[in-house]
Amino acid sequence: MNPALQASEYSDTAVRQFTIMAVVWGVVGMLVGVIIASQLAWPELNFGISWLSYGRLRPLHTNAVIFAFGGCTLFATSYYVAQRTGQTRLFCPKLAAFTFWGWQAVIVAAAISLPLGYTTGKEYAELEWPIDILITLVWVSYAIVFFGTIGRRKVKHIYVANWFYGAFIIAVALLHVVNSAAIPAGWMKSYSAYAGVQDAMVQWWYGHNAVGFFLTAGFLGIMYYFVPKQAGRPIYSYRLSIVHFWSLIFTYMWAGPHHLHYTALPDWTQSLGMVFSLILLAPSWGGMINGVMTLSGAWHKLRDDPVLRFMIVSLSFYGMSTFEGPMMAIKTVNALSHYTDWTVGHVHSGALGWVGLISMGSLYFLIPRMFGREKMHSHAAIELHFWIATVGIVLYIAAMWIAGVMQGLMWLAVNPDGTLTYTFVESVKATFPFYVVRMFGGLLYLAGMLIMAWNTWMTAVSGRPVRVKIPLPAPVTIPVPVIA
Ligand code: HEM
Ligand code: HEM
Repeated sequence: MNPALQASEYSDTAVRQFTIMAVVWGVVGMLVGVIIASQLAWPELNFGISWLSYGRLRPLHTNAVIFAFGGCTLFATSYYVAQRTGQTRLFCPKLAAFTFWGWQAVIVAAAISLPLGYTTGKEYAELEWPIDILITLVWVSYAIVFFGTIGRRKVKHIYVANWFYGAFIIAVALLHVVNSAAIPAGWMKSYSAYAGVQDAMVQWWYGHNAVGFFLTAGFLGIMYYFVPKQAGRPIYSYRLSIVHFWSLIFTYMWAGPHHLHYTALPDWTQSLGMVFSLILLAPSWGGMINGVMTLSGAWHKLRDDPVLRFMIVSLSFYGMSTFEGPMMAIKTVNALSHYTDWTVGHVHSGALGWVGLISMGSLYFLIPRMFGREKMHSHAAIELHFWIATVGIVLYIAAMWIAGVMQGLMWLAVNPDGTLTYTFVESVKATFPFYVVRMFGGLLYLAGMLIMAWNTWMTAVSGRPVRVKIPLPAPVTIPVPVIA
């Protein structure tokens, strides 16, 4: 193809590939979620096969949903947004292709090594050192492509969504390199470079900021571009978005110790984590309000636009989980919630409600555009997806909240003579019905994802990959951020 012509078009191959794989990995990761949810209710479903056991499938689930489903969504949307807001092509499309194939290789390596039992034992950082090195190579390439694209933008302003994506990319690089430092003891075995309580501290500095930057900052980048685009209105307050950005990235870094309350970690560190977690409520809600209020004066759009509804309901779950998190970080509350299913309920109100729904909304935005169609194949299927996903989330998190508070109260109950009122197994028995309800909630959420996969397939086969022209930069600069 004529290079001059190519230079005037967006480079969307990697966007298209990551978009499709986000849907595929979403189905896989959630299927594994439903399997482990069923195993918790009916442990016989392990079938006595080591690689089907709960302990091996659980990290497969978390890695698949966070890094494969969430990761592919973040790659796709960030490549799309950086080009559109900068009115330029991707920097080095060949390197972008490497990030696509490299990231898929990481996912496949995880899908093989985790069921085989290879793990570092660090939550959300289970992959062994050779895979960690591949992750580093892909991530550095990602940073080069993303910041290179920002660097060659034709628009003076850097739209706020890119700030969030940029912070996510830099922070994840830092977290990954520091937390994965290890001494190899064979091809698939290593020992952490840290020991004892330092190891725990580094791990939960990583773990919490994986939530803060992978599951939050990146997805806020999505919010800042796709909510205004889908609503057809500018963001409610651009000034608030800047305050939101700096306060959020500053505060998140300090909150990790709330995962280690009542442990060997020095007490002042735990209190520091608690205080920063409470402060975190303010920037989180500032961002949530900024997103939701973008719809002010256009609320009627929610009535017949299910894609916008995915995004706005996602923001309400974001608000809910970022209120709940600071409460759980209070040491006395954590004394009840820690080790219980309340934590799992909190995780999934953030994961299914916030991360899942905003991903689905932005993917529904991207898919038709990537295949030259005006809209998705079936509007009714998006409606159906929205409702069964929402009902699924409510069943999942309500079951876990009730189970969690019940477990906490049962474990803390003591008789007048000081002995425990309940044995542990009694609390397990009492939890059984809630595990079954959670499994049904998860099944509904998975069913929604399968409907999305069908709708994506139908849209893709009835359209074709398109080349989109880059609009010429506007002749006059207006003091309003461009999000074309
Ligand atoms: C069909 C949907 C899903 C089902 C049925 C499901 C089920 C589960 C189950 C049973 C666990 C283990 C809980 C335990 O250890 O007691 C779990 C853990 C987890 N899941 Fe999901 N999940 C689903 C979707 C997702 C999604 C979309 C995400 C992220 C975007 C996610 C993120 C996580 C995380 C981070 C954990 C670890 C929680 C912790 O350590 O406290 N899940 N999930
Ligand atoms: C202001 C924001 C938030 C704060 C202060 C916060 C705080 C907390 C606290 C205190 C825990 C329990 C720690 C424990 O007892 O072990 C927790 C667990 C967790 N939260 Fe949040 N949370 C916030 C937002 C979110 C969001 C939006 C998500 C998901 C997108 C999320 C995902 C998780 C995960 C995955 C865990 C479980 C970690 C593990 O033990 O494996 N959090 N959070």
